[in-house]
Formats: sequence, structure tokens, C-alpha cells
Amino acid sequence: MSSKVSLTRYLVEQQRIDGHIPAQLRLLLEVVARACKGISMAVGKGALGDILGSADSENVQGEMQKKLDIIANEVLIEANEWGGHLAAMASEEMEAIYVVPNRYPQGEYLLLFDPLDGSSNIDVNVSIGTIFSVLLKPEGAGVSEQDFLQAGTQQVAAGYCVYGPQTTLVLTVGDGVAMFTLDRERGSFVLTSEHVQIPKDTKEFAINMSNMRHWDTPVKRYIDECLQGVEGPREKDFNMRWIASMVADVHRILTRGGVFMYPWDKREPEKPGKLRLLYEANPMSWLIEQAGGAATNGQQRILDIKPGKLHERVSVFLGAKNEVERVTRYHSER
Ligand code: AHG
Ligand code: MN
Ligand code: MN
Repeated sequence: MSSKVSLTRYLVEQQRIDGHIPAQLRLLLEVVARACKGISMAVGKGALGDILGSADSENVQGEMQKKLDIIANEVLIEANEWGGHLAAMASEEMEAIYVVPNRYPQGEYLLLFDPLDGSSNIDVNVSIGTIFSVLLKPEGAGVSEQDFLQAGTQQVAAGYCVYGPQTTLVLTVGDGVAMFTLDRERGSFVLTSEHVQIPKDTKEFAINMSNMRHWDTPVKRYIDECLQGVEGPREKDFNMRWIASMVADVHRILTRGGVFMYPWDKREPEKPGKLRLLYEANPMSWLIEQAGGAATNGQQRILDIKPGKLHERVSVFLGAKNEVERVTRYHSER
């Protein structure tokens, strides 16, 4: 790349050339990026800041919150509530939606986020991230939880920021996937990859193998065939990775390919999966599709699911198109 393109310039050009980013959406994405920069700085402090360890509270998911879950949530709210671009926000860490307070102007967008993804990795200094999804508020007065219950196909922007050895913001506004690396000296995100594409085939899968005995038959079949390697029906050896931060696993897949699975399992059979549809699966599925991959829940395209509730969970199979189609087919063949 001859001259450095900042996130701001990328967004201005998207607005100018393609005309499909209204000014308010551009502002929103800049604000989210600024919040991610703030979270990245907090993450970087580690044991030197008061950011590690448990907050000794539970979120609506029944999961123990880490200090950083709460800090990241606050950073995102504080950055986004006053700009006039949002009507309301929803977060993994908040049971109800957060309506922009009356003292600020209300905009037409809805922002959903998983403020800190991969919480179990915070204290052990392994990559973590923030995931976000942007929707347009349906016409009508006021804003309610119902307004957030839109299929993933309705997203107008989606992305994540991974806090790893580098801090990288990955974004789609429906025109492919672009990656921006945080230049820590300049304090700005710089475009480092554009039109990211995932190979249709892969030899690398990501799943938490410790849950194998709880899986459903199609998932067992798929993984068992991978594990048989060159001697098995797949006739090739597979490698495995599991970071336990969806952000980091998806980032690896967007960078070098692969397939990611977090299926329904028998530990909590009443739940359709572990991951949340609106602020984990939907934004990641759109990014993956924009990069030429696929994302299903084993039965249908994730982006087509009409959500029934804000914190709805879903099974997730995403990444290399042919692998996702295969494991989805196994679900229909049983
Ligand atoms: P979160 O930290 O936001 O609750 O999400 C964690 C998710 C996801 O990032 C990851 O893929 C998965 O949980 C890891 O789950 P296991 O610990 O069950 O492997
Ligand atoms: Mn998460
Ligand atoms: Mn989280």
C-alpha cells in the first residue's frame, strides 16, 4: 500500500463513492472505533490497571462478569450515547435495551454489542475482542426491544475489534470486508487489508473438543471424519485450533481460512446453543458471508433467522463455504 488510508478516509470514500454510508452511520462507526481504542488501551494495562479479575456479579446470561466486561460495556455506552446517531443500544451485559437519554438527541440507528468477547481469556493474556452490529430503527415513535428483533440480513454495518498482539478492527458495510490495524503511535486505525476472502475449502477446524460426548450425531460425524485424516473419507489431515474467543477464532478464519463451530449440545438441551444471535452470530455471519464463506445453525442460514428475543442463543457453523455446507448437509441426512 503506497499511502496509508485511515479508517476515517475509508469511511469518507465509502460515503462519497458508493453513497451507501450516510453521514450518521459514518459517525457511528468512528465512535465505535474510538471506543474500541479505549478498550484496547485498558486491555493493554493488564495487571497495571484495575482491569483483571472478576466483578463478582452475574449478567442476564447467568454468567459471572469480569471487571473488563463491565468496563468495556461502559466505554461503549459513554462513547455512543451523546452523538445523536443512536436511538438505543443493546449489550450482552445488559438485560434490557439502553435507550439514549432524553438530554441527548436521538438518531435512527440501533447498536448491538458484545463488549468483551472471550472473557475467560482476559486474565491469561490471550486475545479477546469486541463484536458489534448496527441496525436501522424501524419507523415509528419511541424505541423498544421489539425494534432490535430484526434478521441479520437487515444489518447495515457489522464488525469486531480484536485485542491481540495487534489491535485490529474488522468491518463490513456490505461492500466486502476491510481490516484496519491500530497504529499505536498515531492513535488511528489504518487500512491493512481489503476485500478479504476465505478459501472455500480448509484443513483446519475450530471446536471445543471437550464437549464431544455432548454433541449431536451430525457434529460427531463431521469431526470424526476430520479426525480420521488421510486414511478417512476426507482423505486429508486436519489441524485444530480453539482459542475460546470467537473474535480471535473468526479473525484467524478471515486471515487464513478454516471453519468454526459452536453447536447445540446436551449439556443444556433447552438452549439452542451457547452463542448469542444478535450480537455474536449475526455480525460474524455477515462478515464471513461478505468474505465468501457461509454461516448456518445446522438447518438454515443464520442471517435469515427472525429473532424472538434480545438475548436469543443459536448454534453456529461458520467459515469455509464447502465445510459449512457439508456439516449442514449432515444435519439434514440423519
Ligand atoms: P463471552 O466471553 O462474550 O461470553 O463469549 C465467549 C464465547 C466465545 O467467544 C467463545 O467462542 C466461546 O464462548 C468459548 O466457550 P467455551 O469456553 O465453552 O469453549
Ligand atoms: Mn462473546
Ligand atoms: Mn462478552
